[in-house]
Amino acid sequence: MPLDIPQVFKVHVFACFQQRPPGHPRGSCQTAGGGPLWDRLSAKIEGLGNPEISMTATGCLGFCRAGPLMVVYPAGIWYRPQTTDDIDEIVKSHFVEGNPVERLIIVPQL
Ligand code: FES
Repeated sequence: MPLDIPQVFKVHVFACFQQRPPGHPRGSCQTAGGGPLWDRLSAKIEGLGNPEISMTATGCLGFCRAGPLMVVYPAGIWYRPQTTDDIDEIVKSHFVEGNPVERLIIVPQL
């Protein structure tokens, strides 16, 4: 039975800040280029000034080879942005306008 609990955030994005050494067999989102993307994401979200849109830095989300990864709740949408322009598009289209950016969505494989 679904619970009727109010949501704290309209958008809550978790971005993977995990860093492993170059050449590590699992790779990591930071070595895959996450750093500048997450800096941009943080700045864009802060710039919105909307307390209902929040970002949390996380460790490994479990799908390292697919990185850099971010996952957005409550929708449960996984993104693999490649450029800061991708970040800008996700923030504007998804977070502000409510339209997920289909071309940047991935479905991690368990
Ligand atoms: S290092 Fe980012 S998902 Fe594992």
